[in-house]
Amino acid sequence: MIDFHSHVLPAIDDGSKDLEMTLEMLKESYAQGITDVLATPHFYISKNNVEQFIEKRNKAYDLVMKEIQGKDGYPNIYKGAEVYFFNGISRMDDLDRLCINNSRYMLLEMPFNKWSNKVLAEVESIIFDRKITPVIAHIERYIDFQKGTDNIDSLFSLDVVIQLNASFVNYLFTRGKAMKWINNNVVQLLGSDMHNTDTRPPNLGKAYEYIRKKLGSGAVEKINNLGKEILNI
Ligand SMILES: [Fe+2]
Repeated sequence: MIDFHSHVLPAIDDGSKDLEMTLEMLKESYAQGITDVLATPHFYISKNNVEQFIEKRNKAYDLVMKEIQGKDGYPNIYKGAEVYFFNGISRMDDLDRLCINNSRYMLLEMPFNKWSNKVLAEVESIIFDRKITPVIAHIERYIDFQKGTDNIDSLFSLDVVIQLNASFVNYLFTRGKAMKWINNNVVQLLGSDMHNTDTRPPNLGKAYEYIRKKLGSGAVEKINNLGKEILNI
């Protein structure tokens, strides 16, 4: 099973603070049945340029790989980024380098406010002008901000992939909605969005288990098949 959203790489963002915590998060994920983890550290244009980000991310990745390579009990790790939307993103030269595992898919974090038409036009431009398919990170976190607009429908009408966080499936008061979204193919990918071992820990195994129980193995398989296709594994 695939975790498509994680802050598991050490000391690169507000996720895992060091190698020790990273190894714990990975071990716990594997124990929950997660075989493949996409590492998606935050990319903020205000903090780094792409070159600096890639260098830091690769260093952190190499550090982890050196420790776990050839050892049992750890999932495979792939390189990605959670790219926070900014004005002009669709025109940034090296945007391609932020794509997931050398694919044409990119995990995109949308603004946490009411989106203007300009924002949606820019997402459209990422798709049509850059030929990159955005994977919209944790869709559940934007919905309230878009109330009274057609923004969510407009986003869904574009060629995007939608990712949901495991917590929305695990939480008693939202899991009904989560099942509806997955069943109706509104949501196509799942991620833990794990940041650490205590407040935002690995929690995806439980979510997959619940989906399997409610919607059957086919639903889990469908999510994983798309994940495999994007990761090219
Ligand atoms: Fe995240």
